[in-house]
Amino acid sequence: MSKKTALITGIAGQDGSYLAELLLSKGYTVRGTVRRASYPHTERVDHLLKAYDERDPQCPFKLMYADLTDVSSVRNAIEECQPDEVYNLAAQSHVGISFITGESTLEINALGPYRILDTLRRTGAKTRYYQASSSEMFGASPPPQNESTPFLPQSPYGVSKTTAFYLTRVHRVAYGMFACNGILFNHESPRRGLNFVTRKITRGIASIVTGEMQTLALGNLDAKRDWGFAGDYMEAIWRIVQHHEPDDFVIATEDTHSIRDFLKDTFSLVDLDWNDFVMCEDRYKRPAEVPALLGDASKARRILGWKPKTTYRELCQMMLESDLRAKGLTMESARVLAQKLRKPSRTRAYPANVVPMAKAS
Ligand SMILES: NC(=O)c1ccc[n+]([C@@H]2O[C@H](COP(=O)([O-])OP(=O)(O)OC[C@H]3O[C@@H](n4cnc5c(N)ncnc54)[C@H](OP(=O)(O)O)[C@@H]3O)[C@@H](O)[C@H]2O)c1
Repeated sequence: MSKKTALITGIAGQDGSYLAELLLSKGYTVRGTVRRASYPHTERVDHLLKAYDERDPQCPFKLMYADLTDVSSVRNAIEECQPDEVYNLAAQSHVGISFITGESTLEINALGPYRILDTLRRTGAKTRYYQASSSEMFGASPPPQNESTPFLPQSPYGVSKTTAFYLTRVHRVAYGMFACNGILFNHESPRRGLNFVTRKITRGIASIVTGEMQTLALGNLDAKRDWGFAGDYMEAIWRIVQHHEPDDFVIATEDTHSIRDFLKDTFSLVDLDWNDFVMCEDRYKRPAEVPALLGDASKARRILGWKPKTTYRELCQMMLESDLRAKGLTMESARVLAQKLRKPSRTRAYPANVVPMAKAS
């Protein structure tokens, strides 16, 4: 069989980088899109750029410019690499920020997939299309959530992903395209963006231990999420695309924890009490919350034979270790440094809108 070519949009994001590694390990030719930035940020795939010689036309790994808001760049990318599979991972992926940048979130996350699907339809090629759908589409629907749970999105991000989900289905039903959705629950890693709560916490702990930061400001700590490891989830989406027919699958660990739990379980790894360092700030609260996400991934288990390998506790440890390593620390040396921080004064005066968590709870 000839080598397959995959086009990954958003390849320099968390998921794109893990998916690129996975597909390269399977012998794919991988092409990935990045968008123009005044300060290029390809850190998550720099190791791949170094490993392959981009000047070689047969090079298995290459980046190309495309922006999902620019249809001609989308068409060019597809025409140039003629992919067997397209993994559309590009998105404005931050739920909180989507309340501020609602219009561009919809433009990128909803119209962007439409532009890709429409281009693929017009080429008439048998390209398989994967849409990065999200558990945020379930929003206020009570857990556990599976493929039959109604969507009740609570944010512009959730609405944009719901639109893209249905556009993907419409292209499957109306035009017979191989277009599928992975409804992924939250997945994290040491490569998670710096403004996502899990990474804010693990990076915050590393900065607290080194004395660079005294407190960590967060929003709603009661939200519950089903957190998995991004690397495991890329195997799931590859299986969704290899399945003999296009379909939609929930991908989740089937385990849920609150942000409060995540704080407790990561701070305790360096023997600290999170209550001494975390403050709740209104500015981080969202206008509408998604209270609890807990996936039922039984369909993926049954049909794709997929299940996550990494546990929640292993994920906490992996993320904290990585952020400590970036500061030249091990878990052991961080614990030694943390000893000096164990009983900070709680008499400090806080601004009126800031409540130290020990008092708030
Ligand atoms: N991680 C999760 O828990 C999770 C759960 C469910 C679904 N998803 C979805 O899965 C996908 C991958 O998630 P992720 O965690 O890897 O997100 P991420 O780290 O934020 O990566 C998203 C990528 O999309 C790119 N992008 C943004 N706007 C673009 C545009 N207009 N044109 C082209 N590229 C653009 C970003 O580039 P810049 O760096 O230039 O912004 C970034 O490389 C996203 O669609 C996300 O919404 C994620």
